[in-house]
Amino acid sequence: MTRRGCFITLEGLDGAGKSTHAGWMADWLRQAGVSLLETREPGGTPVGEQLRTLVLHQSMDLRTETLLMFAARNEHWRTRILPALERGQWVLCDRYTDASFAYQGGGRELGAPAVRLLEDWVQQGQGPDCTFLFDVPLETARARLQQGRDTADRFEQEGAAFFERTRQAYHARVAEDQARFRVIDARQSIQDIRVHLDASLRDLLRTHGDPAMHRRVQDA
Ligand code: TYD
Repeated sequence: MTRRGCFITLEGLDGAGKSTHAGWMADWLRQAGVSLLETREPGGTPVGEQLRTLVLHQSMDLRTETLLMFAARNEHWRTRILPALERGQWVLCDRYTDASFAYQGGGRELGAPAVRLLEDWVQQGQGPDCTFLFDVPLETARARLQQGRDTADRFEQEGAAFFERTRQAYHARVAEDQARFRVIDARQSIQDIRVHLDASLRDLLRTHGDPAMHRRVQDA
């Protein structure tokens, strides 16, 4: 039987720099011989990408917003992520359910219990094997965001208090499940962050990869 692939997610505030590292991590994994599905949320499927446009740009009730995030997630999980993992592929996903805890649960103050209800219903106890949280103080995130953006979506337009609550909710998730998270201090330079990512990815290959992948990295 093919071994189930490893499910990796990337999280952090807008402006934390996670997208800068996503491509590098994907290249690293492919060079190690991993067959990889690289994807994102909200999105990742035709239905999910349409929901993404709606939820990022159309104002709506908070419960509607949360349900749409999970509608997109359900489609993504069932039709792409789970089948890929079952085929033995690895999945690298830019944001996943922790973002709903952070943004809807924390930032928008829906609270964790409502998000947990949907998490349980959609994921039925399954989820990421490893989550990288790119953690930065608010001021750093906002400064970076202002540099790199043309038009801000509904979330990026929020104020400092929203992002402070969002960051705190991410930290609450880390406290609940420390074994799954790797918190990266994203104030560091890109090069320094890559040193940490390299070490973590080697670890994941050791624990989740097949021996050939592991050997390829040791020889490199
Ligand atoms: P993001 O990865 O930041 O996209 P981009 O880099 O193209 O701006 O994701 C878009 C936004 O969606 C981000 O501000 C966080 C928000 N989001 C939620 O509020 N809840 C969720 O469950 C997810 C997955 C994302």
